[in-house]
Amino acid sequence: MSDLGFNKIAFCVLGTGLALIGLNEASHAMFHHSEHEFPGYYVEVEEAGAAGPAVVEGPRDYGLLLAAADIAKGEEQHKKCVQCHNFDQGGADLQGPNLYGVLGRKIASHGVFKYSTGAGSLTEKGADGSVWDFEHLDHFIERPKGYAPATAMNFAGINSRITGLQDRMNLIAYLRTLGSESVPLPAPLPPQAAAPADGAAPPADGAAVPPADGAAPAAPGATPAPGAPAAPAPTAPAPAAPH
Ligand code: HEC
Repeated sequence: MSDLGFNKIAFCVLGTGLALIGLNEASHAMFHHSEHEFPGYYVEVEEAGAAGPAVVEGPRDYGLLLAAADIAKGEEQHKKCVQCHNFDQGGADLQGPNLYGVLGRKIASHGVFKYSTGAGSLTEKGADGSVWDFEHLDHFIERPKGYAPATAMNFAGINSRITGLQDRMNLIAYLRTLGSESVPLPAPLPPQAAAPADGAAPPADGAAVPPADGAAPAAPGATPAPGAPAAPAPTAPAPAAPH
């Protein structure tokens, strides 16, 4: 092959290579390419629990919960109990005591039923005269052995993290229809019961709870007479500091 032929071929190869490199650079310059912080698609999801009503901590507002309870669904729930409990008025005890009228009944007090005894038992729970109110029933049915470690009720409880609370409220609302209608439904908790009224001074020792209408407290530094703050005379001149 002549030198000229070799040069031609070498020129073609070199030229092609240069052209490729040039194209590559040009495309990088034209199309912006950035590294992604997260590979793949990044879907933003709201933090679970931030706004959801999933888990209720603190005092349970039985007034609100029971007002929203579904008695028919509670009747469904009670099928989990019938293997061991009779719910008919005057019905026989089974493995567990008859539960007709259990809401409002003294704990471990039904007839001749032999309740668990000793530390952590239902007999002990009822020893101080406690009755099965909404709160006691809720906690017992949620986790019988958590409420009374020595209980003879061999039942895991109704404690699904998602539906447990609602299921129990429905069930307790149903139990109320079985001879316990006279037990009043609790009133909903007052909003922010724990928070003091705006700007209200903390009540002095032994002082009666002040009315929440912003009644002016006595002159700063004045010692309120015992029992005096309840006097409803906001227009009267301040009794303190006679001239
Ligand atoms: C496997 C049997 C069994 C099942 C299922 C069961 N219980 Fe019981 N239950 C018992 C026994 C036994 C006792 C007595 C416990 C004791 O003496 O400690 C009892 C006691 C009770 C008491 C106390 C009654 C009283 O007179 O003080 C309540 C309330 C109660 N059960 C509710 C329920 C509810 C509601 C369900 C269904 C969600 C249920 N139980 C399911 C066996 C059972």
